Amino acid sequence: MAYRSRIIGTGSHLPDKIVTNAELAKTVDTTDEWIVERTGIHQRHIAREGETTAALAFQAGENALEAAGISASDLDLVIVATTTPDNTFPSTATKVQAMLGMAHGAAFDLQAVCSGFIYALATADNFIRAGQAKNVLVIGAEVFSRIIDWEDRTTCVLFGDGAGAVVVQAFEPEDDEKTGILSTHLHSDGRLRDLLYTDGGAGSNSCVGKVRMLGRELFRHAVSNLASVVDEASEANGLQKNDIDWLVPHQANKRILDSTAKKLGLSAEHVVVTVDQHANTSAASVPLALDTAVRDGRIQKGQLVLMEAMGGGLTWGAALVRW
Ligand code: UT7
Repeated sequence: MAYRSRIIGTGSHLPDKIVTNAELAKTVDTTDEWIVERTGIHQRHIAREGETTAALAFQAGENALEAAGISASDLDLVIVATTTPDNTFPSTATKVQAMLGMAHGAAFDLQAVCSGFIYALATADNFIRAGQAKNVLVIGAEVFSRIIDWEDRTTCVLFGDGAGAVVVQAFEPEDDEKTGILSTHLHSDGRLRDLLYTDGGAGSNSCVGKVRMLGRELFRHAVSNLASVVDEASEANGLQKNDIDWLVPHQANKRILDSTAKKLGLSAEHVVVTVDQHANTSAASVPLALDTAVRDGRIQKGQLVLMEAMGGGLTWGAALVRW
């Protein structure tokens, strides 16, 4: 039996606390004008004390299950993409599994920083294609605010907290039916680890560490890697420019989004942008943007949706979905 997978529900959850650029400018040497002009960010949501990655992930997961019309008892796998797990171990996914009331199936975390959701979606798709899972809850969730150096203006203005989720379900396609997840494409280049990293870790110095970034160089790699992976996804599916209905990109910087859209020949109306409201929520950014555009009715059945992301590692990837 040849199984394929499709997304049957999306959900998200954001902390209610909002921090504007103007508020940040009171504590670090920056301005609203600089942040908006260089990144497109106006505000970000920041978790309150006690509001953990698992808490955000659970809410997003519940919302996705409700939209999908299935319950946790129907799931056989939970994958949480995160860089900010509640504990070094056990995984945040097992915590979410317990919060969902599941005592069956399997749960694990996946770490690919900002590309985490694309990696997790590809993993779920492959589990389903291999016949090893029927219903998978894929979550991207982060409280990046807890690993930010709030005195470093080159990074602290860029990130926010949140969670997004999708339920991926197996189906048996008709003969030439091209719906659901059409293809996924993952890449990494560990030689470029020093462009974006934390200066600590459980296995090196017993510390969590803070985010360090070489922004300008990272920007250059983001533009070229994302251009090449969207080309790869288009070529793998025989697409022409303009065939894509919606680009749902990782929300790191509005200027990077614009450049990828241009590469695809897409006008601004076909790009889902949340970076202005959410900033960069790492693994949560793509599913948060996806859920936004599904719930406000932009993404419709039958449309072609291209998701892409790039992050620390470096890691990058894309997923093409016929909704
Ligand atoms: O999610 C993973 C992927 N992440 C990315 O892809 C991020 C990629 N990088 C970027 O988005 C951009 O490089 C940034 C938004 C991080 C920076 O924008 P930029 O246009 O590349 O600025 P820059 O780093 O070249 O800095 C320009 C100037 C510098 O001052 P000097 O050296 O020219 O005097 C910075 O010190 O802007 C200064 N600067 C700031 N000024 C005000 C850096 N951060 C700030 C700030 N406020 N927050």
